[in-house]
Amino acid sequence: MTKSDYTSLRMGVDYYPEHWDRSLWEQDALLMKQSGVALVRIGEFAWSRLEPREGEYDFAWMDEAIDLFGSHGIDVVIGTPTHTPPRWLTTKYPDVLPITPNGGVFQPGVRGHRCFNSRSLRRLGERLIEQLAERYAQHPAVIGWQIDNEFSMLDSQSEQATEDFRDWVYRKYGTLERLNQEWGTVVWSGEYSEWNQLTPPLGGSPYQNPSFLLDFARFQWDSIVDFQQGQISAIRRHCPDHFITHNFHSYPQRLDLYAVGEELDFASFDYYPNTSPEKAATSPYSGALSLDITRGIKRQNFWIMEQLSGSPGGWMPMWRMPQPGYIRAYVWQAIARGADTLVHFRWRSATVGAEQFWHGLIDHSNVSGRRLAEFVQTSAELQRLAPLLGQTSPKAQVAILMSPEQLEALRIQKQADSFDYYENIKTYHRVLTKLGIDCDVIDWRQPLDAYQVVIAPHLYLLDDEVAERLSHFAADGGTLVTTARTGVKNLQNVCEMKLLPGLLADCTGVTVRDYDPLGSDIVRLDDREGEQFACSQWADILEPADGGRTEVLATYGGSVFFAGEATITRHEFGRGETYYIGTHPEESYLRGLLLGIMQKVGIPYIEGLPASVQVSVRSGESGSYLFILNLGREPRRIKSLGAYSDVMRGEGLLSGKLYNGHEIELEPYGVEIFRLIL
Ligand code: GLA
Repeated sequence: MTKSDYTSLRMGVDYYPEHWDRSLWEQDALLMKQSGVALVRIGEFAWSRLEPREGEYDFAWMDEAIDLFGSHGIDVVIGTPTHTPPRWLTTKYPDVLPITPNGGVFQPGVRGHRCFNSRSLRRLGERLIEQLAERYAQHPAVIGWQIDNEFSMLDSQSEQATEDFRDWVYRKYGTLERLNQEWGTVVWSGEYSEWNQLTPPLGGSPYQNPSFLLDFARFQWDSIVDFQQGQISAIRRHCPDHFITHNFHSYPQRLDLYAVGEELDFASFDYYPNTSPEKAATSPYSGALSLDITRGIKRQNFWIMEQLSGSPGGWMPMWRMPQPGYIRAYVWQAIARGADTLVHFRWRSATVGAEQFWHGLIDHSNVSGRRLAEFVQTSAELQRLAPLLGQTSPKAQVAILMSPEQLEALRIQKQADSFDYYENIKTYHRVLTKLGIDCDVIDWRQPLDAYQVVIAPHLYLLDDEVAERLSHFAADGGTLVTTARTGVKNLQNVCEMKLLPGLLADCTGVTVRDYDPLGSDIVRLDDREGEQFACSQWADILEPADGGRTEVLATYGGSVFFAGEATITRHEFGRGETYYIGTHPEESYLRGLLLGIMQKVGIPYIEGLPASVQVSVRSGESGSYLFILNLGREPRRIKSLGAYSDVMRGEGLLSGKLYNGHEIELEPYGVEIFRLIL
């Protein structure tokens, strides 16, 4: 197996051999094979079984499990077990446990009780991983590794974290004078005169110096990257042909996804779309965003390392069961947006432990039923279509920029009630998704050459590098959309003494004369045709630049004293144009605005997509494939979108019915896949 094989389209399951009686393994592996399971992920919480006592390793059970899967032709991904240090370790080396901001100890018993700065954890973890890597490097069934499990920031304030934080700050600023200057510690007598006065944000109060808080978050994110790097190096030393990934989860995360992704071969995501009927209107769209974010981590296809298989529960009251077709539809949604391999969590619901009610494909009874049958059907479809869809990927002409630093800075100082960075990104993404427009979501520091339209919400922190890149993008013919709270601060989280939007004032052709943090209050917004909309969260009162090249697209209306003032503008800049949206308009306004932009630029869109229907395209050398998904409980119908052959139902892979000018019926959770006929 070479690294390139992680691009195969196939399905697997998460399995915990150590949780089940040995007598079940054989029948599980056999049923997996018959069910179309191509791979299993194992091991990610099994430290106490792999090293029951310090330095005493037991790999016999893992050998047996891997051999068994191998004998059935099932590949194995090994998870490194550092998410759950065992009790012998936390007792003997208490520095492994994170210290909470209030000085408490994050006790073992649940999981995630590991301080990323702990040297004992790194040393003992890497030693175990090195042994695993050496042992399974040549095993024909083992194809790759998952590092740890679902990283997120812990705010650990242990002694080691404190020491490492001081080093990090020293490396960044060099002297206390510079540190005091850059952070503005003069406020409230926060100046440091000795390095040992510098601690993590003890007490956890959000009302501390915002520059310090943002740097502490960056330090923690770097600690996670370092922690991960130790494991990656240990694995790569022995397994140069194996891939390495990590399973990201539940966005937004206080984590530098892009830095974590850098040394990985590809990103993975744990996907649990919400099954509750009251989330039906939003969940398919927030899911689509999560998938696009995951693809954006490395700007390439990705895996789902855990995919919903039954009612989730245990951490909370159980969610509704997935309706017939739900499991299959969400597999295809992930593939449509760039997933290649999907691993279902989990094979069978646990009979022991905290997650007994987070349901797997098979229930506790071990009697297989409807959900496994749906997996079998989906896996068979995927195997049939893999030769066509393999090596294809979504190719977007529109990008939304995302930044963990903006997220954190806007969390540290919420700008107004109801103003939420991630929710606003969701809104822009949802508007595009409802128009059937493929969109990448990428790190705000990425090159933009691939795109015609870039939407850059709330670039609250801004530096010359990004401002110049965005300005060049527009000057060279791109369309740039910026929004309120752009250019407010520098990267130290310090306010700029500049008219907003600061470094982007020239490129956007506006300045902000005044602003009103509206919060949840609603203000009227009037477009140029006199149509009225609502806006909220924020109101920038804009001053279009002199020279007539800035057009006012919308003004405030109603009884506010700033009625008639500009809120949304368009500016010609070089060969391109820039839009500045000084408020948060209701979705229908944004829809019209973005649709107008797409028409102008010539990016295809679909008007009138019914609610819950998502359309996206994967393309590559084998052709372009259109996915039409009904992610809702009601049947839907849409007009065909051109000349396509039906590959989902086609008898031979490329034969099938032509759809041109017909209506396509979508059953609840229906999935249609067509190949574009040129
Ligand atoms: C996460 C974890 C899994 C499991 C599932 C379900 O995604 O990675 O180990 O706990 O959630 O809760």
